[in-house]
Amino acid sequence: MQITFSAAALPKTGAIVIPVFEDGGKPGAYDDLDKASDGAIARAVKASAFKGKKGKILDIVAPAGLGNSRIILVGAGASKDFAALDAEALGGNAAGTLLAGRDKNAAIALSGLTAKKLAADELAARVAIGAKMKTYRFDKYRTKEEKDDKPVLAKIAVQTASTKAKAVFAEYDRINDGVFLTRNLVSEPANVLYPDSFAKQCQALSKLGVKVKVLGEAEMKKLGMGSLLGVGQGSVRESKLVAMEWLGGKKGDAPVALVGKGVTFDTGGISLKPGPGMEDMKWDMGGAGAVTGAMAALAGRKAKANVIGVIGLVENMPDGNAQRPGDVVKSMSGQTIEILNTDAEGRLVLADALWWTQETYKPSVVIDLATLTGAIIVSLAHEFAGMFTKDDKLAKQLDAAGAAVGDKLWRMPLTKTHDEMIKSDIADMQNIGGKGAGSSTAAAFLGRFIQEGVSWAHLDIAGMAWKTKDAPTCPKGGSGYGVRLLDEYVRANHEG
Ligand code: BES
Ligand code: MN
Ligand code: ZN
Repeated sequence: MQITFSAAALPKTGAIVIPVFEDGGKPGAYDDLDKASDGAIARAVKASAFKGKKGKILDIVAPAGLGNSRIILVGAGASKDFAALDAEALGGNAAGTLLAGRDKNAAIALSGLTAKKLAADELAARVAIGAKMKTYRFDKYRTKEEKDDKPVLAKIAVQTASTKAKAVFAEYDRINDGVFLTRNLVSEPANVLYPDSFAKQCQALSKLGVKVKVLGEAEMKKLGMGSLLGVGQGSVRESKLVAMEWLGGKKGDAPVALVGKGVTFDTGGISLKPGPGMEDMKWDMGGAGAVTGAMAALAGRKAKANVIGVIGLVENMPDGNAQRPGDVVKSMSGQTIEILNTDAEGRLVLADALWWTQETYKPSVVIDLATLTGAIIVSLAHEFAGMFTKDDKLAKQLDAAGAAVGDKLWRMPLTKTHDEMIKSDIADMQNIGGKGAGSSTAAAFLGRFIQEGVSWAHLDIAGMAWKTKDAPTCPKGGSGYGVRLLDEYVRANHEG
């Protein structure tokens, strides 16, 4: 998708998108085109229920007197409230309509449109990135798609008086590269994306200046990572640990560490999951996907911060060699774990990934992301990721970052009681907590692998990594949740 910015007159062919506020604000193009079409636009508005409400669309096809294929009016809601995320949603909604049509070329008219909370350059860049986000498709395995079902949209020209929009957009586009990378990783089936092939995709980030290190099973065994290795021992695929280093900040500044759960397929292991819906567990690497995408975003825009991304990659399979319920494993931290359910595997992977990260990089902040529990979906559905932290300042910072980019978070409880729920009869802890508060006991388990003085938050993204229906800036499928959140968190708190 090519996106350009210019103040030039609108093209006489192709589709034209015109945002309309419900309080009457609109770009100059509205009246110009209405006049040129002898009032066709005003007549269409009168004949329809279109009032400029947020998200509403009036698609005027083949307007009389114009060479344009269609005029698409997009509702923008109240102009006084219109902010960055509304502009993105508007761009996304417009793109959704364009993608369903047959136009190769489209223009979005913004000249003359003003919103109190948004400068012209931000307005144009946000509309454009919202549109681009909606154009994502994962279609590499479709060989027989009907021609009419395949989008043809190739170019969007954004009409704006702003001269800075292009540069602002370019930065958002680098972040979006990370979002698209994550969507790709999450969408890949598990026969294609497994620990080794995932690690190879990480290695490709070296072209952005990211230093990538990959540990295999022999190295992890030497390091004593019995917890992570136990999960992967039933799989024929070798487990991997990948570290991605982006050192764009001051030399010697303690880094921020992002740690991701990368279970490339979760059958549950010997505690086998039921069949229906098990295919969803191809995206049980969503946390690792988000960390990888975030590293691509940070490096892509050359963030002035030191950030380390670490992902634990394993496949959880039932097999003659798989670990059993009742097994006891020893983690790299030295702590022992009684495995009571082999399906509570994500925390076992993170236990060693978190410990290794702290030992190796001495980070000041650790944020882990994981599709960790079904229970978080019971609590928060697909609206929020669950945030678990004892650090109020970090909670505030993450909340603010999430709200700014639309990756929403809701803070959940993490207390001593939850920690007591994972006491084991024969080891230092057990990997499940008994009845109730499943997301909090999972977080408490992770907390046992966080070292003194490290500021830590755990984000349970089980409900967010995958969308089962279209959203304004995201078609159904892998969402890329977390990439923009992490990028914004770093930008707002660790740069400059
Ligand atoms: N990967 C799952 C969690 C999950 C469930 C993610 C549904 C996305 C959608 C995780 O490994 C798991 O199986 N968790 C168990 C924990 C239980 C055994 C304590 C769960 O949530 O049922
Ligand atoms: Mn599981
Ligand atoms: Zn899992």
